[in-house]
Amino acid sequence: MVDEQAARNKKIRDTISGNFTRGAKSYALFEEEHQFFKKLLGELLSLSPPPAGGRILDVGCGTGASLEGLAEAVGDNGEVVGLDISEGMLEEARSRFGDKYTLICADGCNFEEKALGGKFDAVVYNAVLFMLPDARGSLTSAKSVLKQGGSVYIASLEGVEANGIPLPDILSQGGYKAGRHALSPWSKVAPLVDELFPGTLFREFTIELTPPLFRGFYLLEPMSAGLLPTLPYPERRNIIESYAKNFEEEGVAPVQRWVLAASNKRDD
Ligand SMILES: C[S@@+](CC[C@H](N)C(=O)[O-])C[C@H]1O[C@@H](n2cnc3c(N)ncnc32)[C@H](O)[C@@H]1O
Repeated sequence: MVDEQAARNKKIRDTISGNFTRGAKSYALFEEEHQFFKKLLGELLSLSPPPAGGRILDVGCGTGASLEGLAEAVGDNGEVVGLDISEGMLEEARSRFGDKYTLICADGCNFEEKALGGKFDAVVYNAVLFMLPDARGSLTSAKSVLKQGGSVYIASLEGVEANGIPLPDILSQGGYKAGRHALSPWSKVAPLVDELFPGTLFREFTIELTPPLFRGFYLLEPMSAGLLPTLPYPERRNIIESYAKNFEEEGVAPVQRWVLAASNKRDD
């Protein structure tokens, strides 16, 4: 049973990693145009600023959208380390930042201090934890690499709705096999956060998706896979494009719901 679960989780990680690697260039262009994840990080850090001079681990750092913001937050004496499972995403980050940041290809569900060069003042998951198949493994790893009093930061995508109806329901009504948007939704993560990081503050946050933002986000290969996981990418693109066109014609702006969480203290 444990082996079955491990094999299932590996399959999920490989699929997600492949989707991100193939979509890495488009992801970097989307971020360059919209600064979507950079702005999200700003909201997350506004809950509780990380310490100046701190050492931060950016789990699922991707193309590096959050690396600069985190480096600015900790200042010249701080250090930011990025970890991601997708070599393609890391390649984009390297082409942008060279060797300015330490970037490590590893699984965010299971990481250790030894491979990361020491402990951290903060571990950040910007738009990552909800897509990990093993949230407990990941948060336990985070706790193990944090210094005494270190913090965890989480921005978790909970869903997207149009006219108050979840997009997966709209797709199902249209006859499509829609995906579970989050593998580790906040309902599953919240008790873990409570157990491992008591006293964590969180708040809900919504983002209204204008037509270019909706298209830019959901036409990305990995994001479209979250909505329509069983279809090949060209088919997913066509379907999402047709819904985007309808929303635009009807003047409907889909809304994403996020949870932002920061633990400013760690009780042992
Ligand atoms: C939506 S992107 C967010 C990237 C980045 N945090 C940002 O703000 O742009 C999710 C990232 O998580 C990475 N990821 C997904 N599953 C992972 C895993 N099991 N371990 C490490 N990284 C993972 C993906 O490769 C991708 O780069």
